[in-house]
Amino acid sequence: MSQKKPFITLAQARAIAAEIPTPFHLYDEAGIRENARKVNAAFSWNKGFKEYFAVKATPNPYILKILQEEGCGVDCSSYTELLMSEACGFTGSDIMFSSNETPVQDMQKAYELGAYINLDDLTHVDFLKEVAGIPKTVCCRYNPGGVFELGNGIMDNPGDAKYGMSEEQMAEAYTRLMALGAEEFGIHSFLASNTVTDDYYPKLAGILFELAVRLHKRTGAKIKFINLSGGVGIAYRPDQRSNDIAAIGEGVRKKFEEILVPAGMGDVAIFTEMGRFMLAPYGALVTTAIHEKHIYKEYIGVDACAANLMRPAMYGS
Ligand SMILES: Cc1ncc(COP(=O)(O)O)c(C=O)c1O
Repeated sequence: MSQKKPFITLAQARAIAAEIPTPFHLYDEAGIRENARKVNAAFSWNKGFKEYFAVKATPNPYILKILQEEGCGVDCSSYTELLMSEACGFTGSDIMFSSNETPVQDMQKAYELGAYINLDDLTHVDFLKEVAGIPKTVCCRYNPGGVFELGNGIMDNPGDAKYGMSEEQMAEAYTRLMALGAEEFGIHSFLASNTVTDDYYPKLAGILFELAVRLHKRTGAKIKFINLSGGVGIAYRPDQRSNDIAAIGEGVRKKFEEILVPAGMGDVAIFTEMGRFMLAPYGALVTTAIHEKHIYKEYIGVDACAANLMRPAMYGS
């Protein structure tokens, strides 16, 4: 796969900066569209596939409109993200709402928009019922606990993360939701971030597909979709390889054929809600270096600050 390469040259950046004062963010619309098309092609084997762009990754209405034109929905985590998505024309099943410690106002807005609501905890079943109502389709977030390992040094610690429910709690949530009128269910899980391997989604898919079969057998719940959430990384350094989304889609397809199809669950839709993979290679902060400082380390002072891009300050760039 291709290596990380900026999408503009220094000369192009200088030409733009001659007209627009730095700092500013620049996005590669053609790159965003091409990548979104590759994502859709990689999962085109699945009838209900949809990428719900994680709005938190770039909460910019122009970007949301571009992704909407490419067939994406939105993954919202807050009231403001819901409002922005509504203003961009996303409604109903175009929206996934994944939140935890959810304020009443947020839950009510998600319900009013007809979004797929992803419950983070068993106690949120009654919370949803009390503050909004029980929709026909409800999603629950799964956390298997323990340590999640990909066998190539990449790992994460779901047991340390506050998100999601155990399998027992998922079964209880589905049973209770069915008693309250819900008819179809989603499963959502996010077990590792920034994965620079094509194996993450297939491994996660295997875990979630088996869970879906068990939950269906145990509770009778109809599983409508499985959301693999985010976590697909990008080439962070120039020498790193980009993830191959076609290989990732094929890896998920194999698990689907192995696990869901034999269980009679071949109609389950696959959702993703990638943020970084959809946008990070196609956005740049263009800033001018205004000072150099040489002491125990080398420093370049720029005209951008933490308000423009906070993370380099945190990561020692
Ligand atoms: C629920 C949820 N979905 C999706 C994402 C996007 O993750 P990524 O940028 O790793 O694809 C995040 C990121 O924090 C998230 O919390």
